[in-house]
Amino acid sequence: MKILSVVGARPNFMKIAPIARAIKKRKGLKHILVHTGQHYDHAMSGSFFKDLGIPKPDINLNVGSASHAKQTGLIMIKFEDVLLKYQPHVVLVVGDVNSTAACSMVAVKLGIPVVHVEAGLRSRDRQMPEEINRLVTDSISDILFTTTQDADVNLIKEGVPKDRIYFVGNVMIDTLLLNVKRAESSRILKTLRLKKNHYALMTLHRPSNVDSKENLSLILKAIEKVQTKTKIIFPIHPRTRKNIKKYFSATWLKGMKNLILTEPKGYLDFLHLMRNAKFVITDSGGIQEETTSLGIPCLTVRENTERPITITHGTNTLVGLNKNKIIKESFKILSGKGKKGRRPKYWDGKASERIVSTLVALNRKGKLLR
Ligand code: UD1
Repeated sequence: MKILSVVGARPNFMKIAPIARAIKKRKGLKHILVHTGQHYDHAMSGSFFKDLGIPKPDINLNVGSASHAKQTGLIMIKFEDVLLKYQPHVVLVVGDVNSTAACSMVAVKLGIPVVHVEAGLRSRDRQMPEEINRLVTDSISDILFTTTQDADVNLIKEGVPKDRIYFVGNVMIDTLLLNVKRAESSRILKTLRLKKNHYALMTLHRPSNVDSKENLSLILKAIEKVQTKTKIIFPIHPRTRKNIKKYFSATWLKGMKNLILTEPKGYLDFLHLMRNAKFVITDSGGIQEETTSLGIPCLTVRENTERPITITHGTNTLVGLNKNKIIKESFKILSGKGKKGRRPKYWDGKASERIVSTLVALNRKGKLLR
């Protein structure tokens, strides 16, 4: 069976790494890896291939950054040629970025079955570009692999037949568990002069938080206060960096003595930073899951989450775009009252093996044909 899988943007890389490994272990499977080039900087893409040992992509579509329509359209045009040339038996996509939705649409129209890994997550917030990508991808996928049982319920409610849904667990956590020991060799704490458990880690990149001057200013004002009590490490996403530069004077952030700005970090350095932080402030989807798995308290600067299990079972708290809540919850954690959680079912490092075994079994039964 020829499986063609797709990566495009940063959160895809850690999801594909364990799937690529599981495919390689099986006889009779051929893996073709396509990088759409949605992310292209070393810090946003190349460093993850190196850190996670992901095979070099067979094809890079080099689409780069553009508006949603242009980027999605360009991926579709270029990906169609790839599918016509390679004729895979299935196309496997992960997550919810533009590359995920674009490649699913092309495959399905060429009659190639689509496998979606991390299906069924719903924020019910259609202002999020990722929510649209999730809805589109899930509605046309043939096989839907889910990370949690609430995702199965979402899909069933939307009319997806039960026999297409497989609850297998979380491939991102496969990567986390595999690398947690390796990350111990990272020198990032030394480089940034940090003591374990004596700093907070922050990431921000959602357009709803960082494209609006008002919202970004509200978050940074909360951070201005929190950093009076703890060091905060802030690896800055390129979108956020551009906007901070556009909206605010350089002296404002420089005046926050405990706020340490850095370039985006590679996988192992970031994992080491996360694992040893007192807490994490973020608007990322993946980090809500990773902190739950590591047992590190997480404050999510969003009004909703497509990953509710991180709240019900995990260490996550939604603080919304609420300055006082960001400050209050940060201080609560600093006073030793951080949320403790437990690891959700099947976030056990074996999700990729389950996925590949399921695909092999389905193929044997002839159920992967459209
Ligand atoms: C994309 C994904 C988002 C994911 C995020 C992780 C979509 C709709 N969005 O958002 O789901 O959480 O990636 O980072 O698919 N840029 C660089 N170097 C790069 C890539 C981007 O400098 O390698 C800059 C570009 O100027 C670009 C901006 O960052 O305009 C934003 O990048 P873009 O890919 O449009 O969206 P993200 O915010 O990264």
